[in-house]
Amino acid sequence: MPQKNDFQEIEKPNVIYPAGLVHTFFHHEKSKPLIVEIGPGRGDLLFHLANEHPEAIVVGIELKSKRVDKMIARIEKLELTNVILLQADAKTALDELKDQPIKEWHIHFSDPWPKRRHAPRRLLSLPFLENCSALLQPKGKISITTDVEWYAHDVAKIIDRIPQLSSCSPEKVQTSSDDAFPTYFAEKWKKAGRNIYYLRYWKS
Ligand SMILES: C[S@@+](CC[C@H](N)C(=O)[O-])C[C@H]1O[C@@H](n2cnc3c(N)ncnc32)[C@H](O)[C@@H]1O
Repeated sequence: MPQKNDFQEIEKPNVIYPAGLVHTFFHHEKSKPLIVEIGPGRGDLLFHLANEHPEAIVVGIELKSKRVDKMIARIEKLELTNVILLQADAKTALDELKDQPIKEWHIHFSDPWPKRRHAPRRLLSLPFLENCSALLQPKGKISITTDVEWYAHDVAKIIDRIPQLSSCSPEKVQTSSDDAFPTYFAEKWKKAGRNIYYLRYWKS
């Protein structure tokens, strides 16, 4: 499991890849929607999304610099041209994306604070999810995955307070999902015998 010290907060994006201002990049690609993953880790899903959606810009917001460096090396090896990485704490980085329509948010196993006493440190708070919802285009989607059952239900209760977001299925917390992707952590937790919980919402 991630250690507490791995999650120091970064006020502003530290590394932007490709180098340069993110707004400059977006300026040239204004008509393209964004697909954003928070906490892509090794980038397995991020690179899959980039391949599947050449019409979009795929953005990864990752806190840890070592993970960003490794993803940059993989992006160059895979010759992907529609990926942007921000090394940043997503809590403070969403403003960087505010000028572009967001088609999808992906947040899979990104929160290292499942204990109730650590709740104030969590990423998936009401203000954060309201901000994600506000930046989402109509019919846009938010996908969240976790291996902690009660935490999944806590997040569903928070999202109940955002009227623009509706669950894609009658059960807000599902134990399987057609679009589940075998990320490193999804596979790790499955092998360890844990259940995985999926939340899928769309914006009206
Ligand atoms: C458990 S890993 C999951 C990685 C990947 N999503 C997967 O499913 O394999 C959590 C990732 O989220 C990142 N992360 C955690 N909190 C974050 C935050 N506030 N902003 C950006 N990234 C964050 C961590 O650095 C780590 O790479």
